[in-house]
Amino acid sequence: MKTIKVLLLCFLTLIYNCKKQNNSPTGLITTKAMIVSAREEASKIGSDILKQGGNAFDAMVATQFALAVAHPSAGNISGGGFMVYRKGNGDIGAIDFREKAPLSAHKDMYLDATGNVIPGMSTLGATAVGVPGSVAGAIEVHKKFGTLPLSKILAPVIALAEKGVVVTEKQEKKIAPYLKDFIKVNGEHSKFSIPYKAGDTIKYRALANTLKSISKHGRDGFYKGRVAKKLSSFIQQNGGYVTEEDLEKYNVKWRQPVIFKYKDLKIISMGAPSSGGITMQQIFKMIEPHKIKEFGHNTTKTIQLFTEASRRAYADRNYFLGDPDFVTIPLDIILSDDYLKNRMNDFSFDKATKSSTVSHGAINIISESNETTHYSIIDQDGNAVSVTTTLNGNYGSKLYCDELGFFLNNEMDDFSAKPGVPNMFGLIGADANSIAPEKRMLSSMTPTIVEKDNKLWMVVGTPGGSTIITAVAQTILNTYEFNLSMQEAVNAPRFHHQWLPDAVIFEPNGFSKSLKEELKSKEYIINEERTPIIGKVDAILVLPDGSLEAGADKRGDDTAVGY
Ligand code: GLY
Repeated sequence: MKTIKVLLLCFLTLIYNCKKQNNSPTGLITTKAMIVSAREEASKIGSDILKQGGNAFDAMVATQFALAVAHPSAGNISGGGFMVYRKGNGDIGAIDFREKAPLSAHKDMYLDATGNVIPGMSTLGATAVGVPGSVAGAIEVHKKFGTLPLSKILAPVIALAEKGVVVTEKQEKKIAPYLKDFIKVNGEHSKFSIPYKAGDTIKYRALANTLKSISKHGRDGFYKGRVAKKLSSFIQQNGGYVTEEDLEKYNVKWRQPVIFKYKDLKIISMGAPSSGGITMQQIFKMIEPHKIKEFGHNTTKTIQLFTEASRRAYADRNYFLGDPDFVTIPLDIILSDDYLKNRMNDFSFDKATKSSTVSHGAINIISESNETTHYSIIDQDGNAVSVTTTLNGNYGSKLYCDELGFFLNNEMDDFSAKPGVPNMFGLIGADANSIAPEKRMLSSMTPTIVEKDNKLWMVVGTPGGSTIITAVAQTILNTYEFNLSMQEAVNAPRFHHQWLPDAVIFEPNGFSKSLKEELKSKEYIINEERTPIIGKVDAILVLPDGSLEAGADKRGDDTAVGY
């Protein structure tokens, strides 16, 4: 009997290991094209554009605008974001459509006469609004790479806004806590000043009109003329700073992505003013010399190694990084092999490093909110697009322009209002990210594309504020080192450490008590009160036979659609 049990156990272990070696897919599989985004409606609109002969860039435009309709907490036309792309022929690049500070902005704009940060001024209402970049980003992508007419791409989005979108259970839960803020900022008679329940349909006629203006006039339909006049006067009437001149002057930037090798992977991600690619490169390079595969998925040793690499990388992030058009970032030093080897010199599996002993003790962290959204696209020609876009907070500044039909961002809070003073998430900023006119605020958004053996292998990204970087890195490691399928890699419980505050956070239910006790015995500080959802990763894996596996994060309403 005992022998049979042992044999059975060996057999099951063998099956498990075979499976783990094969990354057996568990997510949606398609053979030609796929989109994974935060809402089924948006993924479907993007996928239909591909079916109609559009490419991944046309689908990016459709999905970006469709998320503004179907996912208004983070999808946006008045926010900003970043796109990393890899064309079917292997060409790679990136576009920065991050918001900018208005021309009238200055370093101390959120401080009172005694130099103290004015609570709420950079987070709630019109004073928090940065100059939006999303429309300019989408139009520029279309101009450079699009194949279908803009009007054709926007037609289904406009139709969706007119027909309306059904509120999901998850959306009901997400929106309810903000009702008080919506009323405070917009008064009693605004569209979002009433409670919405799951099953309600919200129609967006005003947004449909704004989208028609963009469809007809392109960029000028938003940054000039009627919409720009209304938008700037609405923001200013509410006490904000964005002017018609700010809107007209807004510009996107094509940027070099961050590119680095991790073993036989080539990782292509976003550079400054996003910290995503640079910080992820540091983390991967500090991990690379260790046998993480042998340590195993989410084991004590793996968590220690990842945490210590993150601790050091985030310390650098918060001190050195900012808008590269305004600050000089010593990339050649902080990304060099010697530097990163030295950073891990004091790491030991016996005991946690204390964050107070790492780097610039007097300079603390910059943080962003958890509310952002990501979508991944691969088209029938192998063009890949990875986009992360945000209003910053959930529903941004909560300021809703009824006449134009959308929420305004509160991206100004991603700047450091005053070095050393915590922002709305209890975290602290540094000088490299101080406010200046037309400067872009530092971001953590990490839209990423990965090549394996010089071929497209993965498209990945997530919302999650400062946890974005670690969530993307863990998803790549889950698939590459621990042989999880794309969907399993997305489902797997995540953990996070960002130097300061000096605490590891774990998602609920994913990590055993004994594992946490072991970490505590090695002097890791664990934030037991905070067990938030970490990211909502939307990713696509190219399987060995060329078909595509989705990783759509069920922490949200995220859905893959393709064919
Ligand atoms: N606002 C979130 C980020 O840019 O990282």
